[in-house]
Amino acid sequence: MSAENELIIEQIEIGPMANFTYLVGSRSTRKVAIVDPAWDIDGLLKHIEERDYQLVAALATHYHPDHIGGGMRGHNIAGFAELLEKQPVKLYAHKYEADGVKKVTGISDTDMVKVDSGDALTVGDVEIEFLHTPGHTPGSQCFRVKNTLVSGDTLFIDGCGRVDLPGSDPAEMYHSLQKLKSLPDDTLLLPGHNYSAVPNATLGEAKQRNAYLAIADAAAWKQVMG
Ligand SMILES: [Fe+2]
Repeated sequence: MSAENELIIEQIEIGPMANFTYLVGSRSTRKVAIVDPAWDIDGLLKHIEERDYQLVAALATHYHPDHIGGGMRGHNIAGFAELLEKQPVKLYAHKYEADGVKKVTGISDTDMVKVDSGDALTVGDVEIEFLHTPGHTPGSQCFRVKNTLVSGDTLFIDGCGRVDLPGSDPAEMYHSLQKLKSLPDDTLLLPGHNYSAVPNATLGEAKQRNAYLAIADAAAWKQVMG
């Protein structure tokens, strides 16, 4: 899948929880960043190697172990820590997510680049913009690359991330969704899980089918989400 010719955007479904990992980068330089590396690090690295891509960074949408690895329900999920043993790249995480990232993965501050909303990372000739979208977790973030939005567990095609977990905040999720709603309708939405009949859709299409995006005032949101 490629949104624009100069872009590399690959959506890879991975693991038993229908997660999506993404490769985002520049076709001309073949440099890529990996979003939410988890579950099968060897398979992902093989995928990168087979396409002659050069991995230059890892990006975390949020700290949950199904996205970046770590202990979950008594199991250890492979993730960024295992990637780091094989590829010396930094993990770009929102500054409010740093403690959670360290806790679940065991990595240190020096393995991370702490970013804030509006920061950007240039991969080859492609710019990836970081958007802070708290709600599912305090430091959840989305990545905007030209007319695509990698939306993690903030926005799914038919829903949004859970806001009843430790660190979740329903009110913040409301504001994050309002922010994402203001992006152009032709933005291609690339969620953190394959929870819908289609793996991706435009924001305009999501607005037609996603009941959470349809809620347009904070009071109504509070009634629905608590
Ligand atoms: Fe999550």
